[in-house]
Amino acid sequence: MSVLPRAGDEEERLGPASTLIKGGRLVTASEDFVADLLIRGETIAAIGDSLDGPANRVIDATGRYVMPGCVDPHTHMDSPQAGTVSCDNFTSGTLSAAAGGTTTIVDFCFQQPGQTLGQSLATWHEKVARARPVVDVGFHIAVTDLSYAGALDELARLPAEQGVSSYKLFMAYKGSLMVDDGTLFEAMRVAARSGALVLVHAENGDAIDVLVSSALAEGHTEPCWHELTRPALTEAEATSRAIHLARIAGAPLYVVHVSCREALEPLVRAREAGWQVWGETCTQYLFVDRSALYAPGFEGAKYVFTPPPRGEEDRERLWRALDGGSLSVLSSDHCPFRFADQKALGRDDFSRIPNGAPGVENRLPMLHHFGVREGRISLSRMVELLSTEPARLFGLAPRKGTLAVGADADLVIFDPERPLTMSARTHHSNVDYSLFEGTRVLGGPETVLVRGAPVVDEGELVAVPGQGRFVKRARFGEPLPVRGAASPV
Ligand code: URP
Ligand code: ZN
Ligand code: ZN
Repeated sequence: MSVLPRAGDEEERLGPASTLIKGGRLVTASEDFVADLLIRGETIAAIGDSLDGPANRVIDATGRYVMPGCVDPHTHMDSPQAGTVSCDNFTSGTLSAAAGGTTTIVDFCFQQPGQTLGQSLATWHEKVARARPVVDVGFHIAVTDLSYAGALDELARLPAEQGVSSYKLFMAYKGSLMVDDGTLFEAMRVAARSGALVLVHAENGDAIDVLVSSALAEGHTEPCWHELTRPALTEAEATSRAIHLARIAGAPLYVVHVSCREALEPLVRAREAGWQVWGETCTQYLFVDRSALYAPGFEGAKYVFTPPPRGEEDRERLWRALDGGSLSVLSSDHCPFRFADQKALGRDDFSRIPNGAPGVENRLPMLHHFGVREGRISLSRMVELLSTEPARLFGLAPRKGTLAVGADADLVIFDPERPLTMSARTHHSNVDYSLFEGTRVLGGPETVLVRGAPVVDEGELVAVPGQGRFVKRARFGEPLPVRGAASPV
């Protein structure tokens, strides 16, 4: 790929005011064709044959895919857990996202003990402002307590007033994040009238708590007990319960990190019945086997994420569900804890190992190589899973998630032949290990633009802190209006 005249210093830093991308293969969820694409300022100004600018910069994208920037609706930057904090803040985490072709993340603001929802959101806005992210950021609110006066009204106002149009509730993590069914159902009733999508972490936290306590009482402390105390049916039971409660409440529901075939079953049934239910899985569930938790010594702690990794048949079923539409999104659930000192908190007790793993940078190249190149999904389906569907479900469309005149110029110019090796030595996250260490793939982002400005340029991370912005998302089912207007070319 060649890059023609470069702009001056200021434009080098902020990105040129206009960019013409010539001859790329434009891929959206529904189309795939060779064309030129012109960016003016922050938005897409034109798509067509033989566009000739004028433009500050011309990129020859022959042989490359030009795709909408990926939207990762499930990340945990600067996120407190188990007495520590995930080791990527909104700077390093969004640098890692950008390097992997993700131009928008929707992260979780956790309601803190003793705080109102509004107080917690203020804390999270400060985290983002301090970190000056390099990609756009939205928030889900993770609700832990609705018992204070005015909580339900406050929750109801978040979609329209704060652009926080999704509520996450945890059915597990007893004693910290877990809510009871009454709280879950209350939140669902509020969501049904306020225009929010309800997200659930679906595992039966009470049953898991009993299993964990008895394993520890019997002296079992190793990482493999993370998996042994979280059987697939605890996930299936909670998934089914959440689906039924959401149906009664009339709320749209999104089940995060579906890991196994047992949990897919109720999801598939509900979707076949036309219920407003969607599900995601995450990259790690497509690749990591439960046996990873049994690695010698304490190595298994690297694979302590929740729900735990499952087996071969589950992975096959998840791939089919991604292809066939039973699952709508592939997220990363990027929640990194360093092996050296953070995972080590649970050296003598598996239940104290911080739950989570990195992956925001790996999602696109892994899905492209093992999904598209190996024939499991089409290229357009990849774009749909990584960009278009998360943008639509989370109130970012049509501004994001597609290639259209007027939409934000969040783009990935993707070289399908680029060799990459997944490794902690080369990724941009602060974490000291990779779930996919040594995995070689073909295909990776070459240039990534956030609202027209490069964050990755010809394979180099060039992002400047502060390029990203907080995005107020639309209410569930409503469009987020585009900001750019079609300009004559
Ligand atoms: O293990 C995980 N998934 N950690 C992040 C928090 C969550 O449950 O999503
Ligand atoms: Zn979760
Ligand atoms: Zn998560």
